Amino acid sequence: MFDKIKQCEKNVLNFVFNEEGNTLEKFRLDFLSKKGEMLLLFEYFKTLPVGDKKKYGEMLNELKNITLEKYNNKNNNKTPQKQIEKNTLFPTYQNTPGAIHPIRIVEEKVLSVFLSLGFDFAEAVEIEDDHHNFAALNFKEDHPARDMQDTFFIGTNLLRTHTSSVQIREMKKGVLPLRIIMPGRVYRNEDISARSNCFFHQLEGLYIDKNVTFSDLKQTLFYFVQQFFGEGIKVRFRASYFPFTEPSAEMDIWAGIDTEENKRLTKGTGWLEVLGCGMVHPNVLEACNIDSTIYNGFAFGMGLDRMTMLKYKISDIRDLFINDIRLLSQFTGV
Ligand code: DAH
Repeated sequence: MFDKIKQCEKNVLNFVFNEEGNTLEKFRLDFLSKKGEMLLLFEYFKTLPVGDKKKYGEMLNELKNITLEKYNNKNNNKTPQKQIEKNTLFPTYQNTPGAIHPIRIVEEKVLSVFLSLGFDFAEAVEIEDDHHNFAALNFKEDHPARDMQDTFFIGTNLLRTHTSSVQIREMKKGVLPLRIIMPGRVYRNEDISARSNCFFHQLEGLYIDKNVTFSDLKQTLFYFVQQFFGEGIKVRFRASYFPFTEPSAEMDIWAGIDTEENKRLTKGTGWLEVLGCGMVHPNVLEACNIDSTIYNGFAFGMGLDRMTMLKYKISDIRDLFINDIRLLSQFTGV
């Protein structure tokens, strides 16, 4: 390839225009037409392995510039339309900047708020066992979540259905007090719709100490949403039930009902549930060898995909997973 490019360059430079044979038209036919020497090199270039492309791409572009300059200089006294544009004739290879996925952007923003509050960071395995995903979290033997209908099993193990399993792994390490934040991917055998997918992202929070109160939990979450969405954000807590917390609650964020998308997303209520939370059940503490007469704490599990949808007004959760460049490229440089 090197020799061919050099040879072509020589031929271009040695071409002397005259009125007989070596006309401008001949120059165009020899080098710039589809069968011309230079364009054939560009065709051949396309078949090279990626590694060679970088090496020869620069040489070829140089050759292209020399050839076009010679052609256009000679052509100067002709009508301007006949000039061949430097940058439109041949494709050039450009660097297109990548973008960070919106879920990752949201995860990092959420983490930064909790890290600033003194929380530590932890992660754990996605393939879990029954003990960490269910039993130690106070799920009864016959709880429906243990059903094949709801959970993906791999032999006796399973794809974790929530990041709450990481709580167990962290509490069992026996270092107290404990204040941690645990993001990760989770899996459920769900019907896929605009609101739910069979895998998604959660972020678990856990605070274990002496004399922790439900007000501590609410205030921490209030502070978080204000930092994340800004001061005007509207939230509400609803009483709920989880086997691993007592009392339990869910937190909703006001998305509004001004658009059809918001109505669909919020099932017509305007509110979108973004997390479950509560005071850690004494049985869970005891399963992790923590004396529940001395220690207590709060926990929460947040849906990062829903937070992303609210933050960036994305009305269908599936849009987050189909890698549509029209959506992703909007996050370049965020
Ligand atoms: N694990 C629950 C779920 O996936 C969410 C959750 C609720 C997490 C309450 C918690 C909690 O830590 O305290 O639906």
